[in-house]
Amino acid sequence: MKRVCREEARAGKTIGLVPTMGYWHEGHLSLIRAARKRCQVLVVSVFVNPTQFGPQEDYRQYPRDLSRDIRSAKAEGVDYLFHPSVEEMYPQGFKTEVEVRELRDKLCGRSRPGHFKGVATVVLKLFSIIRPDVAFFGQKDAQQAVIIKRMIDDLDLDVELVIMPIVREEDGLAMSSRNLYLHPEERRAATILYKSLQKARELVLGGERRASVIISHMKQMIEEEPLARIDYISLTNAENLQEVDIIEDKVLIALAVFIGKTRLIDNLLLDVSGA
Ligand code: PAF
Repeated sequence: MKRVCREEARAGKTIGLVPTMGYWHEGHLSLIRAARKRCQVLVVSVFVNPTQFGPQEDYRQYPRDLSRDIRSAKAEGVDYLFHPSVEEMYPQGFKTEVEVRELRDKLCGRSRPGHFKGVATVVLKLFSIIRPDVAFFGQKDAQQAVIIKRMIDDLDLDVELVIMPIVREEDGLAMSSRNLYLHPEERRAATILYKSLQKARELVLGGERRASVIISHMKQMIEEEPLARIDYISLTNAENLQEVDIIEDKVLIALAVFIGKTRLIDNLLLDVSGA
């Protein structure tokens, strides 16, 4: 992969990278299509990264279907599909980890300690192997996007970051590989995340600026859904992820909710400056 990418770079081509854990859905395809339009060489990685899963999490059962991804890669005009093994990425004796302090501890970091260390480490490795000019990530993993941006700036990496909007099912549920875990009843209940964000948007558009009021409306809605259990609901500054009391400028409204045993996340970015 390194040799191929260096040759493409020497030929003066723009390299785009879409890092994924495979089992592509329309969300992944939107990144792949944006990258295809923008870059001369398109590399998509498929690697279910063990270091970003906690010991009690779903690393083993995480959905995988490489043949299906390969078929989609061909249909979408992907130039290279990079599918390293765990042993290649983390050979014996591997010792280095990337910590993006403070940002890693907020939002999802509270219930998933170590998750963002795993993400930052594997993404830096992918950047080092592929040396992309542009890398594409989804807004659904809002905290991941903020952390990667911080890492790129802090470590002076020569990568442009493109964050693509959340892709949703018709009823608003954000696309996620984990939606596959939902039983039909849970699938119906899962729309509560999006509905609560719509409620938040409505309140903000109606002039509400107090985070506590918005959170309590969202909380009440979600608690009315018997299959849902809130992990967190948070209103933060969109860039540094600091919680806000009063909304000003750009706010990230983010939440994580268990639907049955499945933990789902969703978010909404709002800019109230000049609204
Ligand atoms: O967003 C994901 O799918 C993963 O966190 C990523 C960026 C591919 C790193 O494993």
